[in-house]
Order: sequence, then C-alpha cells, then structure tokens
Amino acid sequence: MESGKRTYGFIFMICHVMSIFVPVLAIHDKEVLNLYKNIYRGDGTYYWESEGGTCSLNVPSLPSVARHVDKLVALNAPQIYGSSACGICLMVNGSGNGLGLDPIQGSFIAYVKDKCPECHSGDVDFAETGDGRWDITIQAVQCPVTGPIEYTLEGSNDYYIKLQVRNDRMPTTTLKMLQSSRGSWATMVRTRDGHWQFPTDGTFVDKPIRRPFVLQLHAPNGEILYDVVNPPSMGFVGVIHGRGVQYALDPTLPAVQPRSVHAGK
Ligand SMILES: *[C@@H]1O[C@H](CO)[C@@H](O)[C@H](O)[C@H]1NC(C)=O
Repeated sequence: MESGKRTYGFIFMICHVMSIFVPVLAIHDKEVLNLYKNIYRGDGTYYWESEGGTCSLNVPSLPSVARHVDKLVALNAPQIYGSSACGICLMVNGSGNGLGLDPIQGSFIAYVKDKCPECHSGDVDFAETGDGRWDITIQAVQCPVTGPIEYTLEGSNDYYIKLQVRNDRMPTTTLKMLQSSRGSWATMVRTRDGHWQFPTDGTFVDKPIRRPFVLQLHAPNGEILYDVVNPPSMGFVGVIHGRGVQYALDPTLPAVQPRSVHAGK
C-alpha cells in the first residue's frame, strides 16, 4: 500500500515535470535555425499536386509569399519538426544527376506547404507531376515576403482557438497570447497541421476568449514581434491582418529576392 502510493506520487510528479518541459521541447528554435546555417544533401522527388497537406497552407488560400517562389514542396519528416518548419522557404539546387524522366536541375526557391512522411533528411518532394529521384542540396533562406504576417482561424469558437500564423519571413517558433483578465501570457502549442492552440496543461486562459488577440511572436533567431489581431468573429473564414508587422531581414542568415514567377503555375 505504502509503496503503491509512493509509486503513484512519483508518476504524478513525472507527469507534472513533463507538462512543464514538453512545450519548451516543442519550440525547435535551434533545429529550425540550423536549416538556415547548413546545406543538406538529399533526394528530390515528385508527388502529384494535391490540395491540403500537413501545413494547411492550401491552394487557393496560400499566403502571398507563395507567389514569389518557384516551387511548392513537401519537406522531409525529420526536418519539419512536427509542423514547426511549415511555411519555411528553401533554396533547392539540383545537379540533374539521378534516375528518371524529369531531371531536377538548376536553383529553385521552394515554399514548404507539406510534409513528406517517407522522405529522409535533406529530401524534398516537389508538389508537381514528374518522374524520378534526383540529387539535390537544400538550405533554408529567409522567405521573399512582400507584405506583413497574416493569420487565419480554423474551427474556432469563443472557447476554442486554432490560429494559423502565415506569410512570415521565418517560421514563427513561439506564439504567446495575452490573457487580458490576468495580464499573463499563454504560450500556445503547435498543432500537427500548422496551427496554434492553447495548451491543455492548466495554463490560464480567458473564457470566453477575448478579441482582439494580443500576440507575441518569436522567430527562430530570437526576434520578438507584437501584433494585435481582431477577427470579425471567432468563426471567421479568410485571411486576417494584424498591425502590419513582419520579421526584420537578418543579415546573418541567407535571403533571396522575390521571384516574378508564380509557384504552382
Ligand atoms: C545553390 O547554388 C548557388 C550558386 O552556386 C549557391 O550560392 C548556393 O549556396 C547553393 N545552395 C545550395 C542549397 O546548395
């Protein structure tokens, strides 16, 4: 009886400690930053252009940055870190070496809208029709954004929020929302499909959820932005703009100019 109680208490303690650390582990700042700092070698393949995808960055509602890149792609599972690298931009270079009918040759800027579950580190699956497996190198670049950060809501109501942050120069790796009745920040958690929701670990959140949302956004390089977002309703479907903020261009990380070609065309 005694030891049973102790075991129970111990398990409770472990769970409690884990609930503190799990959100921290989910941030992936360092891992996402490494995608900008290194060149990775892998395979380039093709999959049929599909609606949907892990990142919920779907045609026709792709953020505007997706119109200033060359290709839409799925990033390999090990390097997307759940959905933390959704919306990242990559430089993809193809040598034309490989097997198949449609060589990947040249240098492309790609926008990550999906995850490739069966791909390995360094691999990219192009969201277009094609054939073969080709040698490529990839490196993240700051996205060629031409406008501010945008937001969308999905399936939200006064007591549940599922918020997407999009069109950001670098993927937002931490999102906090001010809980105005207590003046505290609730650190939101990344969903598997590229959104953010409140944690279920007992963090205080205002009920009902208050609008406008006052947000604190963190980029993987440590930049912090504040934004105020006022959707017409919690059920609003469409792109929502904040105050017009965007992450600054980081001169220490790779960047590219916006392309005039349109991805997915
Ligand atoms: C792609 O090639 C360009 C031009 O040679 C080079 O500057 C860039 O670093 C390469 N990027 C990758 C990911 O291989």
